Amino acid sequence: MSDTSPFLTDSRADLSRAADALRSGDIVALPTETVYGLAADALNPEAVRKIFEAKGRPLLDPLIVHVADIDALARIAVVDSRLSKVAAFWPGPLTVVLPRQTCVPDLVTAGKDTVAVRIPAHPIFREVLRLSALPLAAPSANPFGYISPTTAEHVRTSLGARCPLTVDGGSCAHGIESTIIDLSHPSRVRLLRPGPISTEQLEAVLGPLEVVTHTSAQDAAQDAPGMLERHYSPKLPMVLFERGQKPPSLPPGTALILQSRRPTTPSHARVYYLSEHGDCVEAAHGLFALLRQVDQQHHSVIIVELAEPKGIGIALNDRLRRAAAR
Ligand code: TXA
Ligand code: MG
Repeated sequence: MSDTSPFLTDSRADLSRAADALRSGDIVALPTETVYGLAADALNPEAVRKIFEAKGRPLLDPLIVHVADIDALARIAVVDSRLSKVAAFWPGPLTVVLPRQTCVPDLVTAGKDTVAVRIPAHPIFREVLRLSALPLAAPSANPFGYISPTTAEHVRTSLGARCPLTVDGGSCAHGIESTIIDLSHPSRVRLLRPGPISTEQLEAVLGPLEVVTHTSAQDAAQDAPGMLERHYSPKLPMVLFERGQKPPSLPPGTALILQSRRPTTPSHARVYYLSEHGDCVEAAHGLFALLRQVDQQHHSVIIVELAEPKGIGIALNDRLRRAAAR
């Protein structure tokens, strides 16, 4: 199939087609409220293998399994009483790592005895979960290491014919991947990836979180292999500077990305704003689309202002730091 085949829509017929493809062991890109995911039947290793092939993702990087509700979740993972404390964030952008049930293939968990699970909120994803009646493994629908997709067009541009079916659900509301916490240890709660559900929101129900920062790739490989320091990376070099500060020197061809509009900006750079008034939620929503856009233009370097480190701004800065790491 050519990579310009039309997207599937949210019509009943198209979503049934997506569900049928998943039931036959094929992969389908679907919108979620965070980013687009590349989905497959989580209990079918041959189907899951296609995800890794399409993304060029190393097999040691485990996948998130998406389910419709807590009952479906309990068939995949071992739940404990702490789960009821975070269940209020579902359906939504929270992923929890728990001990796995034996039905989950090793390929999904990269051989670990834990599995990452999430109950997504996006109506299209939920309808496909319902129609297929499958738990769906789905990483972000981008080539490994590149910027996550927040529109169907992003999926097409970066995966092309490697992903023959994509459902178009417009642009993703949050624009940044789910928050991941690890509840697999009975007495510890660890934050593996900041995201739209903030540390403050989680600590209000769970108590203090241990924030995991990885000092080496080996370290990262043991915890959450996808948490490599370098990730979400544009092809162009990226340089960051602290919020509100003057940007560093701007070489010719600079794309300068600011968190909010400033009264005066350098005339020799192309300037972009993530938000008019420094709203981090708006900035997160548009970040990946802007990075992709700028990465395709004839710039020499992308220089980006960091966000205010609070709420989703923490997740935004995490993605920016990984994107800038070389
Ligand atoms: O918002 C999201 O979470 C999106 C949408 C599609 O749901 N998915 C997503 O998946 O971001 P992915 O594969 O790009 O990132 C999942 C992360 C990876 O870094 C992986 O290492 C980590 O979750 N992970 C998966 N299973 C794990 C496990 N058992 N233990 C620790 N980390 C795990
Ligand atoms: Mg990803």
